[in-house]
This record gives sequence, C-alpha cells and structure tokens, in this order.
Amino acid sequence: MMSKILVTGSVGQIGSELTMVLRGIYGNDNVVAGVNRTQPGEKLRDSGPWEACDCTNTDLVDSVVKKHKIDVIYHLAAILSAVAEAKPDLAWKVNIDGLYNVLEVAREHGCAVFVPSSIGAFGPTTPLDDTPQDTIQRPTSMYGVTKVAGELLCDYYFKRFQVDTRGLRYPGIISNETLPGGGTTDYAVEIFYEAIKHKKYTCPLGAGTFLDMMYMPDAIDGAIKLMEAESGKLKHRNAFNVTAMSFDPEILAAEVKKYIPEFTMDYNVDPVKQGIADSWPNNMDDSEARKQWGWEPKYTLPVMVKDMIEVLSKKLG
Ligand code: NAD
Ligand code: SER
Repeated sequence: MMSKILVTGSVGQIGSELTMVLRGIYGNDNVVAGVNRTQPGEKLRDSGPWEACDCTNTDLVDSVVKKHKIDVIYHLAAILSAVAEAKPDLAWKVNIDGLYNVLEVAREHGCAVFVPSSIGAFGPTTPLDDTPQDTIQRPTSMYGVTKVAGELLCDYYFKRFQVDTRGLRYPGIISNETLPGGGTTDYAVEIFYEAIKHKKYTCPLGAGTFLDMMYMPDAIDGAIKLMEAESGKLKHRNAFNVTAMSFDPEILAAEVKKYIPEFTMDYNVDPVKQGIADSWPNNMDDSEARKQWGWEPKYTLPVMVKDMIEVLSKKLG
C-alpha cells in the first residue's frame, strides 16, 4: 500500500533533505511538508504539497492528517540542545506537548510515527564509552529531559494504544543543505563553511571532546529503513542507538586540513555547549540496530569530509 506521509519540521536540517528523499521514493504528491512559521524554500514548495503544521496546535495537526489521509508521520519538529538550554519553556512546549499532540492524532487516525531521539538522551552517569542500548539515562540538559520523556511516551503509545512508534538516537548530523538549528554538535558543520570561506575556525568545544557523528545520507537511510522494517523484529522501537563515526575537534580539523592546508583552528569554549557535550557519550554501541533491522552506515570520517568539501566548495563558489 502506498504511504501518505507528513513530515513535521520539514524545513529544518534533517527535514529539508528527508522530505525530498521521501518524495523520490513514495511520490511527490504523497509527502506533505509540514512547516511552522517559515514558508518552505523553493525546492520543497515546488516539488509537492505543504501545510502550516505547528505541532503545539493539535487541531492544526489533526486537520492536516485528515485532509491528506496521512498514515505515516515523520515528526522532526523540535528545539535542539543549545536553544533548549536558553529557552527551556519553549523546549518543553515543542518537544513534549508537541510530541504528545502528534501521538494523540496518530492514535486517532492510525498513523505510524517516526520520532528522533538523540545522544542527548544520555547524561553524565551513563557509561560514556561504548554506551549500551539499555543503560542509565539521567540527562542534565532540558533537551535531554525532553528526549528521554519522548522515548518513554512513544513506548507507552505503542504498548497501550498500539501506535506504531519507532525512533533513532541520532548523533550529531553533518550536512551541507540546511544549517543546523542550534545544537551542541553544530561545530562539526560550521567548521566546513568557515574553512572554505575564511580558512580558519574558532571552535566552541574543546580539544578532546569526543562525540558520535553521522553524515546526512546515512541519517536519512536509517530513518526510512527503520520505518520499513518488519514490526515483529523490533525489540526496542524507541529508540535505537545509531552511529557512524566518533571524533573530537582536533581529528576533524586534521582531516579538513588535508584538503585546505592553510586551514587553522583555535578555541573559544562555550561553557554551556561544553557542559552538554561532556555529559554525552564518546561513542555509542549500535549493535542492536545492526542486529534488529540491519543498520549499516556507509560514510566514514574521511569519505564524509571529502564529500562535504567537494559539495560546499561548489556551493560557496
Ligand atoms: P532543526 O532545528 O534543524 O529543525 C527543526 C524544525 O522544527 C525547524 O524547522 C523549526 O522551524 C521546526 N519547529 C520548531 N517549533 C515547531 C513547532 N511548534 N511546530 C512545528 N515545527 C516546529 O532540527 P533537526 O536537526 O532537523 O532535527 C530534527 C529532529 O532530529 C529533532 O527531533 C532533533 O532533536 C533530532 N536530532 C537532530 C540531530 C542533529 O544533529 N541535527 C541530532 C540528534 C537528534
Ligand atoms: N545535534 C543535536 C544537538 O546538538 C544532538 O541531538 O542538539
């Protein structure tokens, strides 16, 4: 059966690319781009339907789902970690109330729901090396609090109401189409723009800050593969550890230098971002995702850096 899909937060870093890939697979008319206040860009607007869909407004989400007979929701609308720390009230409203609204609408209309969690769902008491799938989750950031609660809420809707909820704990996502929306891992994208434009970058995270990362094509493949997986094979559903690489700013800068030898990096550590990053895993164990639904990322650090430099050099002239 052909899916009718709604993507909330479709103009964001992940949504702007995921929506286009979904349109390529399922047909342009079958994928609705849900936007908050901003109009979608030309690419999204001209290639398929779009709707105003503020997830904090249940009636609006309900009317979009009814109007387009939606049966799968990729719920990407969220407030990311650094912004959430500055605006915890907004983070709660969007990440918790918004998710609750989407799950309620999904329950009412029988939709499956993809909800990304994050490395932010872990905290300082989590084992930070080879972080297991099932472990201590006591995050100390507002973002993390909303992500853990979101994972639990999605599990609850599956167990109690049989809503087909699924999710991934994404690491920092690196991409070249839309800039990241205010997270702790944004440095791993900004560094490329600054290296190409100015040959130097001031990093807000200190040397030795190891974090999991992933290139956008793998993030998109993972989401679609999980949503297409046979339900009976999923023991965890919400949410799977997934990673593709782990590095610190020094390692990334050295890789960038291979293409831009004059590139230099210094540090101006942001204490809020550093505090968050220090409480997140250095590298996650994603063997359950590999076992249960065949997770297999394609992009290693060197391949990702080569592609980022090539694409952004063309884009930035
Ligand atoms: P983003 O900030 O780039 O995009 C989020 C979008 O949500 C924005 O376009 C924003 O306008 C929209 N939005 C905000 N409030 C809204 C509301 N009330 N109603 C509807 N839309 C609203 O974020 P992203 O990087 O694309 O992240 C998507 C999801 O993936 C989020 O759940 C995020 O926590 C998760 N995630 C992202 C990363 C990453 O590195 N990008 C890593 C881990 C998890
Ligand atoms: N990239 C995200 C952030 O830093 C991780 O969830 O907020």
